Amino acid sequence: ANKLGIKKERTLAILKPDVVTKIGDFLELIYSSNLIVTKAKMSCLTCNQAADFYAEHQSKPFFNNLVQYVSSGPLVAMELMGTDAVSAWRRLLGPTDSPTRRESPQNVRSQMGAEGIKNVGHGSDSLAAAARELEFFFPSTVGLGPGNTARCTDC
Ligand code: TYD
Ligand code: MG
Repeated sequence: ANKLGIKKERTLAILKPDVVTKIGDFLELIYSSNLIVTKAKMSCLTCNQAADFYAEHQSKPFFNNLVQYVSSGPLVAMELMGTDAVSAWRRLLGPTDSPTRRESPQNVRSQMGAEGIKNVGHGSDSLAAAARELEFFFPSTVGLGPGNTARCTDC
């Protein structure tokens, strides 16, 4: 928090494959919610990359379907910045499960007819998750991992 007690955060927002063409509506929603887009890319994940991204859910019954869905087409990944960005974006998305959504339908998952794994978007659920997930989509260093040590000698 700064000296005014304002907590500027960064979070990872994903628009899942079914809604990438609605990017304009999301940008309006994001800016009118006092968040700004500081990074963005459209990207296709391989099945293995999607499994890696959702590794925490590996043992869940919906894991394979989820991984298949998010790797089924292009998605949009954005770094959002603003006051309490982590919870603010998740609040805009709405609850994960549909019974809870029916009780409070003022959110995009409700309004866009989210069903099961096809639930519009992703938002990091903590600052630690945001750090990991932002690094996943927007790596801060060019990785030269084990066994990948080739370098161009011209640059
Ligand atoms: P989770 O991280 O619990 O939800 P959120 O996206 O709100 O953080 O789960 C990841 C995704 O897995 C979720 O967006 C949709 C899917 N999912 C199901 O299909 N069924 C479930 O019961 C849960 C918990 C998640
Ligand atoms: Mg989650």
